[in-house]
Amino acid sequence: MGSAAVLVLCLTAVHVAAATVHHEHSQCIDNPPDLSLRGVEAGRVIDGLPGGYRAYVTGLYISPRAVVLASDIYGWVRVTHTEVTAAQDAKPIFASLRKDGKSIGVGGYCWGGKFAAETAKTEDIEVVVLNHPSLVTTGDMKGVVLLQHYEVKRPIEILGAQNDTITPPELVHQFEQTLSERMEIPYFVKIFPRVSHGFACRYNTTDPFAFKSAEKALAYMLDWFHKYLK
Ligand SMILES: *[C@@H]1O[C@H](CO)[C@@H](O)[C@H](O)[C@H]1NC(C)=O
Ligand SMILES: *[C@@H]1O[C@H](CO)[C@@H](O)[C@H](O)[C@H]1NC(C)=O
Repeated sequence: MGSAAVLVLCLTAVHVAAATVHHEHSQCIDNPPDLSLRGVEAGRVIDGLPGGYRAYVTGLYISPRAVVLASDIYGWVRVTHTEVTAAQDAKPIFASLRKDGKSIGVGGYCWGGKFAAETAKTEDIEVVVLNHPSLVTTGDMKGVVLLQHYEVKRPIEILGAQNDTITPPELVHQFEQTLSERMEIPYFVKIFPRVSHGFACRYNTTDPFAFKSAEKALAYMLDWFHKYLK
């Protein structure tokens, strides 16, 4: 995306149950990926979005390209949304961005990878990147449920980790195999060596290898968006 700024929304769910408040922790908001205007413009948090969402927003609103990031936020699942309804619940947000003429990329981390995969089954967005996803199945890559096709249909990039025990490399390779058999949508799969689940968003910033791996994952994600966001 080069110097052309992009609008970035980091999605998080608003916690309604008081009992869960002390669990409230968003890697995304603590350490938001700064995809544009690096270090120049601080983002802001916007509350009251449809579907009970809140977003950390940064970048240029007038940009024709929007990137929606979903991270592994404790409390997302089974507090406000399930992994499947979360994408449904975000539809009004995507619709509003589209109405403003934006093409949309979705980047998901950990559980947010499942969110990204679900959005990739819709016409709501253009392109997705799954970083060390959890809960994603080969059925998401190609699946039929009750005679309905239920599978991703947007260009998809999957960044796995060699030491990921949640979505191990073997499973990522099954995703790849399934996508290659379909021959319908562009896909890209990479397994990052010597890193674990979460490597792209929660890493030891003083460990040069961990830092470099996370930076590389971000670069791969940006390249994929650059390629498929018009
Ligand atoms: C990752 O897995 C490889 C192969 O099993 C192992 O040699 C390496 O020590 C592991 N690295 C980390 C950071 O866990
Ligand atoms: C982070 O990385 C540094 C440098 O490799 C290391 O000394 C430190 O123990 C690591 N911290 C954790 C919590 O793993």
